[in-house]
Amino acid sequence: MIKTIEWKNNRVIMIDQRKLPGQETYLVSSNYRQVIKAIKEMVIRGAPAIGVAAAMGVALGAKAIKADNLKNFLNRFNKICEEMTRARPTAVNLSWAVDRMRRLVENSADKKIEILKKALIREARNLLSEDIAINKRLGFIGQKVIKNRATVLTHCNAGALATGGYGTALGVIRAAKEAGKQVQVIADETRPFLQGTRLTAWELVKEHIPVTLITDSMAGYLIKKGLIDAVIVGADRIAANGDTANKIGTYSVAILAREHGIPFYVAAPCSTIDRRIKTGEDIPIEERNEREVTHVAGRRVAPSGTAVLNPAFDVTPHAYITGIITERGILKAPFRRSIAGLWQKDKIRN
Ligand code: MRU
Repeated sequence: MIKTIEWKNNRVIMIDQRKLPGQETYLVSSNYRQVIKAIKEMVIRGAPAIGVAAAMGVALGAKAIKADNLKNFLNRFNKICEEMTRARPTAVNLSWAVDRMRRLVENSADKKIEILKKALIREARNLLSEDIAINKRLGFIGQKVIKNRATVLTHCNAGALATGGYGTALGVIRAAKEAGKQVQVIADETRPFLQGTRLTAWELVKEHIPVTLITDSMAGYLIKKGLIDAVIVGADRIAANGDTANKIGTYSVAILAREHGIPFYVAAPCSTIDRRIKTGEDIPIEERNEREVTHVAGRRVAPSGTAVLNPAFDVTPHAYITGIITERGILKAPFRRSIAGLWQKDKIRN
């Protein structure tokens, strides 16, 4: 099993995703600032994975606080939480995980500093194992929409590397394979950061799941030729009406799927749904360094002096989404109602 992140001997260990597939190396963080840096620099990326990293970072930060009373501890703890929340703006799992750490402290009956520190470490580790279990459940539910011998297109990396393990969109593929189905994946390269080329292809090759890599601009050609049966992508933030922010380029694929009558699924845990945000218009979109666009493999390919845009995500309006696969079932339109229903029935806390 691919280990994206773990807590070991009071250190956070992450596979360095910037170096894949060439090198399988691990970055060890011993303080929360190193975790923030790792999130910002994409050592770890993918919505659920940065949620787990943020929780572990907060636990590392809390552990190191030297405070002689609870008030001072809480002041410092809240500052660490705020800093962590600012690491990346679009994926809501990050602030969701930090909020969960804050709630743990608020709701703790025993407010002894040493007890709180231990409870925070436990909570961060639980978050990791819960995420893996959620993805397995989500995958099991989602694989039902995958027919035997299906060819599925995915964009970016919503695999084990983007989560605590197993993956969301790729979790559905893994579960389909475990259910005895033959599935092949068409992976968009996902310019500019190449998560498809470097990470999705790496994961699938490693697990002997047939994968064919294409450049993003080839998707329309393949879909028009009838070579794709379904699209499954992950999500970074889902608004209350189902509008979904995911890696830049996802929106184009959704339109292609609609135009050619193939299903377009989003696979994400409920922690990716942000009910405070009414529509996709309000989702903050991260703008990343222009170097990601002007350079390929560290070499400048664009003329200097050119203007560059680099929004890292786009929003797919809910009307293009066939279903949102979650660990609590597949949500269907009208999404405002099916999403609200999740909280009514099961009393989800976030
Ligand atoms: O910029 P990234 O690599 O963090 O973007 C990741 C994505 O857009 C993924 O598709 C999304 O987080 C879903 S991950 C299960």
